[in-house]
Amino acid sequence: MIEHDRILILDFGSQYTQLIARRIREEHVYSEVHPPTRSLEWIREWAPQGIILSGGPASVYDEGVPKADPELLSLGVPVLGICYGLHLLAEMEGAEVIVGKREYGRAELTVHDQGELFDGFKESDPTQVWCSHGDHVEEPPPGYHTLASTETLSVAAFKHDSRPIYAVQFHPEVAHTVRGEEIISNFLLRICGCRPTWTAGAFIEESVEAIRQTVGDDDVICGLSGGVDSSVAAALVHRAIGDRLTCIFVDNGLLRKHERENVERTFRKHMGTRLIVVDAAEDFLNALDGVEDPEEKRKRIGHVFIDVFRRIARSEVPGAEHLVQGTLYPDVIESLSTGGPSQTIKTHHNVGGLPDDLPFGLIEPLRELFKDEVRQVGRELHLPEEFIRRHPFPGPGLGIRVLGPVTEERLYVLREADTIYLEEIQAAGLYDEIWQAFAVLLPIRAVGVMGDNRTYENVVALRAVTSRDGMTADWYPFPHDVLSRISSRISNEVVGVNRVCYDVSSKPPGTIEWE
Ligand code: XMP
Repeated sequence: MIEHDRILILDFGSQYTQLIARRIREEHVYSEVHPPTRSLEWIREWAPQGIILSGGPASVYDEGVPKADPELLSLGVPVLGICYGLHLLAEMEGAEVIVGKREYGRAELTVHDQGELFDGFKESDPTQVWCSHGDHVEEPPPGYHTLASTETLSVAAFKHDSRPIYAVQFHPEVAHTVRGEEIISNFLLRICGCRPTWTAGAFIEESVEAIRQTVGDDDVICGLSGGVDSSVAAALVHRAIGDRLTCIFVDNGLLRKHERENVERTFRKHMGTRLIVVDAAEDFLNALDGVEDPEEKRKRIGHVFIDVFRRIARSEVPGAEHLVQGTLYPDVIESLSTGGPSQTIKTHHNVGGLPDDLPFGLIEPLRELFKDEVRQVGRELHLPEEFIRRHPFPGPGLGIRVLGPVTEERLYVLREADTIYLEEIQAAGLYDEIWQAFAVLLPIRAVGVMGDNRTYENVVALRAVTSRDGMTADWYPFPHDVLSRISSRISNEVVGVNRVCYDVSSKPPGTIEWE
C-alpha cells in the first residue's frame, strides 16, 4: 500500500478553509483540516509534509484569539500562512501587523521574486488575486523578504531568507485568484516535495483492503438511502466482502414519488448486493402525527429509523457485526470544530444521530472524502450515472418539506408538485447545473381565482441552489420561461395548489432545507 504524503491545515476559522483542503486534494495530495489546538507532539506524529495556517476572522492582537505554536517553525516542515496565517507568522517572527484597513475583493498581484512559490510567474505580467482582510503588514519580519505586492499592499507575500516558510496575504484557494492552483501546486510539489498519489483508484484499493481487515469473516449491513453516499459506500464494501454485505432500504413514507421503485430497480440492476426493502411508512407517520416542530420531527424520524433498522437487522441478518455509513469528510470536520465561522452548520446528519448503545461496529469508508470525490470514486466503481448525479436528499425526507403537521394528504400534494418541478428541470437540461432542487409545501393557504370561482388553497415554494458541498449555497437563477412553465403546470395539474413561489434566499442566512 502507498504511504501518501500529507498536508496539515490548521484552521483559524476562515470560511475558505475547506476550499484549501479541496484544492490540495485536487492536486492529488492528501490533506486534513484540524483545529489549531493540536499539540506539537500530535503534529510530529501525524508527520505532515507541509503545514498550512489558514485565514480567519480574528485580529492577532485581540485577546483570546487562536494562535499557532512558534515551535511549529522549528519542525523543519515547510509552512504556508494564508491571510490571518500571514499575520500569525508576522507576529511570531517579529514584524508589526497593521490593524484595521479593510480590503475585500480583486487585486492585481505583481511578483518580484519567484521564491519557488511563484515559479512560472513574471514581474511583467501581473495576475488577479482575491483579498479579504482587515489587517496587513508593511514590512516582512527580520530574516524574511518580500516576494510580491499589489497596488495597495507593499507586502502581499513573503518568504524566509533560507527556510521554507512562506506567507501570502491573499487567498490562493478561491476561484477568483486566477493562478491560485499554480501557487498551491508549487507549494505542494516543489516546496514540500509531495508525491501526487492521492487518486480515486488508489483510494478504492486501500479502502477495500482496510474493510477486509476490519470485517474479517463477519456479516455487514448497510442502510441504503438511494443517495450517492450510501450507494458508493455500499459498492466499496461489496467489492471488499461480496455477499456478506446486506443492504437495507427503509421506505419511511416520506420519499418522493416513485423513489422506492426507482432505487430498488437501479440497485438490483447494477449492484448485485443482497437488498431488503422494508415498508415502514405507518410507523413513521404515526410517530409524526400532530408534530409541528422541525427538531421534534427530525428526532422522531431518527428514532423510528433506528428502531426499524434494528428490528430488521435482528430478524434478517442476525449475525451482522458491522454497520456501513456514508459519512463524509465535511461531517467529520464539524466534530473537530474550532468554532470558526466555516463550521457552524448541520447538526442533524445521518438520520438524527445514532444511539450510544449501537450493537454494531461502524464502517465509514468515505469519512475522508468530499462529495465530488465520492462521485469520482462512484464513477471509478462503475456505478450508474443516475446514482452519481443525483441531488442530495435528506434522511428525514419530505417530513421536513411538508412544513407544519405531516399528513398523507399533504405528502401527496407535495409529491405531485415536486415531481412536476423535477421533470421540468430535467426537460430544460438544467438538472446537473443545480446542487439540489425540491418543492416545499407551506403551512398556510392563499386566495386565488380559478375559472370564475374563488379558491383558498395551498402554496408551494420552490427551492433550487448551487453549491460545492452544501455548507454554503446560492439560489439558482432559473430562466424565466422555465419558472413560468413550472408554475403553471403545478397550479394547473396539482389539485389543491393555487400559488407557487420561488425561494431567493442564499445560505447563509437561509439553510438549504426549510426545516
Ligand atoms: P441544510 O438544510 O442544513 O442542508 O442547509 C445541507 C444539506 O444537508 C441535507 N440535509 C440532511 N441530510 N439528514 C441528511 O441526511 C438530515 O437530517 C439533513 N438535513 C439536511 C440537505 O438536503 C442539504 O443537502
